[in-house]
Amino acid sequence: MDVHVVSKLDNRQHATIQVSAPTDPLKPSSVRVRTALIGLTSNNLTYAMGGAFLGWWDAYPLPEGCEAPYDNQTWGIVPAWGFATVLETAIPMISAGTTIYGLWPTSSCPVDLELVPTVPGGNWQEVSPHRQKLASFYNRYTVVNIKGQSLEDMAWDAVVYPTWGAGYILSEYVFSPDPSTRPGIHPLGAAGGNWSPADADLSKAIFISLAASTKTARGAAYNLFRRPAGSGPLAMMEITSSPGPLEEAAKNMAPVFPTKSLHYEDIPHCAEWLSSIHPSPERIIIADFGGRDGALDTLVKTYQEATELHSAKVTVIAVGNQQKIYTIPEIMAMQASHASIKVQMNTSGVQEAALKIREPKAYFDELHERWNEWLESREVAAPDLRLVWGNAIAGANGVEGGWDALCQGKVKPEEALVYRVE
Ligand SMILES: NC(=O)c1ccc[n+]([C@@H]2O[C@H](COP(=O)([O-])OP(=O)(O)OC[C@H]3O[C@@H](n4cnc5c(N)ncnc54)[C@H](OP(=O)(O)O)[C@@H]3O)[C@@H](O)[C@H]2O)c1
Repeated sequence: MDVHVVSKLDNRQHATIQVSAPTDPLKPSSVRVRTALIGLTSNNLTYAMGGAFLGWWDAYPLPEGCEAPYDNQTWGIVPAWGFATVLETAIPMISAGTTIYGLWPTSSCPVDLELVPTVPGGNWQEVSPHRQKLASFYNRYTVVNIKGQSLEDMAWDAVVYPTWGAGYILSEYVFSPDPSTRPGIHPLGAAGGNWSPADADLSKAIFISLAASTKTARGAAYNLFRRPAGSGPLAMMEITSSPGPLEEAAKNMAPVFPTKSLHYEDIPHCAEWLSSIHPSPERIIIADFGGRDGALDTLVKTYQEATELHSAKVTVIAVGNQQKIYTIPEIMAMQASHASIKVQMNTSGVQEAALKIREPKAYFDELHERWNEWLESREVAAPDLRLVWGNAIAGANGVEGGWDALCQGKVKPEEALVYRVE
C-alpha cells in the first residue's frame, strides 16, 4: 500500500513508499478507515511548513516498519481534507461502509481513529494522545450520508470547502456583518485578545484581497459580496495574477459596493482607483491570502505614499502564504515584515470562539447552507474554477504529481486538484 511522505527538513523532497496494512485488532472506541477522495491546495504546503509547530505532522505518524531512511524524525505524512470509508469499527453508531469527512493521510493504507461523539450530532472528535497538539478544528470528523450526492460535489467539498470556509469565517465572524447581535472575533480567536467593535467594523473600510484567486480568498469574496447594505466594506479590490474571471464573478454577484480586480503589476496605480471611489476611508484592510513576492510591500508602500489616503488606518490580516516552498530566512522575513500593522488569522481559533457564542448546530447549519448556495451557483461565483482529477498516491497523475506541482507554484488559479484513492 502506498504512503506519500515528505521530508520535514526540505518539503520539496518527497517519495511514495510501500507499507503493509495494519493487522492488529481495533482499540475500543475506534474505527479503521481508508482515504477515498482528497483535495490538494496551497494549504497543504502550509501543513508541511508549520507541521512541527502546529502539530500537522502528528496527525498521521509514519506506520511502523518503514524502510530506511523513512522515519518519523525526518519524514512525515501531510494530511489532506476529504472523505474516507470505514473498513472496520468498534463503535456501534458507526457501521462499516460509512463515509466520514475530515482530514486524512495522503495514503492508501488504512489508519485507525479513536473517536468520541461531539456536537452537533454526527460529529466526532479524534482523541488519540499523539494528536493532542493539533487544534480541535483538525480533530473534528463528520459522518456524512453520500446517498444521492454526486462525485463532483464531493470533490468540491474535498478541495474547495476547507479553505473557502476560512474565507466565510473571516467575513461572517471576524468582521461580523451585525456586531450588535454577534460581536466580531479576533482573527486568532481567544488567543488574540481584544477585538473591539471598531476592529470588527467593515462599514468604513476598504477591503483589499491579495492573492484573490486562492480558494480561501474566493470564499471571503463570495461572503463579503453577500453582506447586507451598510455592513461594509465601502469597496473591494482583488489583486491577483488572474483578474478577468474575478472581475466577471464580482459582476455576476453584483454586491452593493464597488469592486475592482487588478493584476499584481498594477498595484502602484491602485490608490488612484480607491481615492476616486472614496476620498477618505477610515480604514484599509488588506487580507493577504498569500500575495506573490514583494506584493504586500509594494501595496503598503503605495498607500503610505498616497496623500489622499494618509488618514486611513491600515491593517493587514495575515491569512496565507504563497504557493511555494519557503526558505527559513524567507519565513523569518515574512513574519517580521509589517509587524506593527499585521494581525495573524487562525481559522481554528476563530471557529472555537464562534462555537462558544453560537449554538453548534446553528453555526454549522448556516455554514453548510452558505456553502451549498456557492456549490449551486459555482459557475456564477467562480466561472473559471475547474476540478483537475488525479488517481491514487504514486506517479505524476497521483498525489505525488500534485505535490510536485504545488512546490513549483504550477497549480493555476483555475485548478482544483482532487484525487481518488482506491
Ligand atoms: N490562516 C488561516 O487560518 C488559513 C485558513 C485557510 C487557508 N490559509 C492559507 O491561505 C493560503 C491559500 O490557500 P488556498 O488553499 O486557498 O490556496 P490555493 O487555492 O491553492 O491558491 C492557489 C493560488 O495561489 C496563488 N499564488 C500565490 N503565489 C503563487 C506562486 N508563487 N505561484 C503560483 N500561484 C501562487 C495564486 O493566486 P493569485 O494568482 O491570485 O496570486 C493561485 O491561484 C495558504 O497558505 C493556506 O494555508 C490560511
